[in-house]
Amino acid sequence: MPEQDLNGRVAIVTGGSLGIGLAISLDLAARGADIVIAARNQGRMDAAAAKVHALGRRAIGVAAEVTKSDQVANLVERTLAEFGRIDILVNNAGGSNGANYKRGPLLETEEKDFDESIAANLKSVWLCSKAVTPTMLRQGKGAIVNISSVAADPSRGTRVGFGVYSAAKVGVINLTHCMAAEWGPEIRVNCVVPGWIETERVMGANTPASAASMLSTIAQGRIGQPSDIAKAVSYLVSDDAGYVSGAVLFVDGGYKSGLPALLPPPPSP
Ligand SMILES: NC(=O)c1ccc[n+]([C@@H]2O[C@H](COP(=O)([O-])OP(=O)(O)OC[C@H]3O[C@@H](n4cnc5c(N)ncnc54)[C@H](OP(=O)(O)O)[C@@H]3O)[C@@H](O)[C@H]2O)c1
Repeated sequence: MPEQDLNGRVAIVTGGSLGIGLAISLDLAARGADIVIAARNQGRMDAAAAKVHALGRRAIGVAAEVTKSDQVANLVERTLAEFGRIDILVNNAGGSNGANYKRGPLLETEEKDFDESIAANLKSVWLCSKAVTPTMLRQGKGAIVNISSVAADPSRGTRVGFGVYSAAKVGVINLTHCMAAEWGPEIRVNCVVPGWIETERVMGANTPASAASMLSTIAQGRIGQPSDIAKAVSYLVSDDAGYVSGAVLFVDGGYKSGLPALLPPPPSP
């Protein structure tokens, strides 16, 4: 039995069909939660829901563009119709590159790309959280986790070439603090900040050379797995984190702490 017992809880995971979000859906389900996956591609959601069923939990995939308030309202309605409550929301949908979200130097960024990135990575967090809040307040309890990125960390250079994305992910951290302050004591709101995580999307955007140079910046000497993020999320939504709200938890293998590659080589024996 996993440590955090989420039996009887109902969780909405945006982007829960792929990559980090899929790992979050499966980890929450393994700890006893029923899962509502919100994304756009129904086939991928159905495949993810089947994996949750295999763990013995209930799951549905609700098609939702999480940047649109009417679709987010439908997501909440479908969840309540199917499960009758909402205990957990994980705002994970988003990204910095892929079919929809482009990244690059600011001078080469088109207005459309700016708007799409801010909507997917920042507006969606506010919209989905606002939509579940009345239910959580009525229940007297709820937990929200927002997924930011190390690109939001001003102490490192990852924002170069990721300008709009990193601005959105800084916004996610600030929204987390504001939500925690405005919606407590009933709702706890926390933020997980992933480092480099091995998802298809991220690895597809890297060459072997860029992956090797990435590795040299990580104290733990490995690229993170989606399950590393999922375990942190499961802790934050569990009762074990009952006094944790407004926290910003870096799960980055020590990337934030500095560049191990800058150490001088050890003296020869
Ligand atoms: N991977 C990393 O190294 C890394 C590092 C730091 C932060 N992050 C953050 O972690 C989160 C997940 O990243 P990932 O690498 O796992 O991404 P991913 O593999 O591309 O998966 C993204 C998920 O979000 C859904 N999605 C995207 N835009 C959506 C929208 N507008 N409406 C509804 N669903 C949407 C996608 O499904 P559909 O396409 O079917 O909609 C998919 O399920 C993102 O917020 C990302 O910024 C990732």
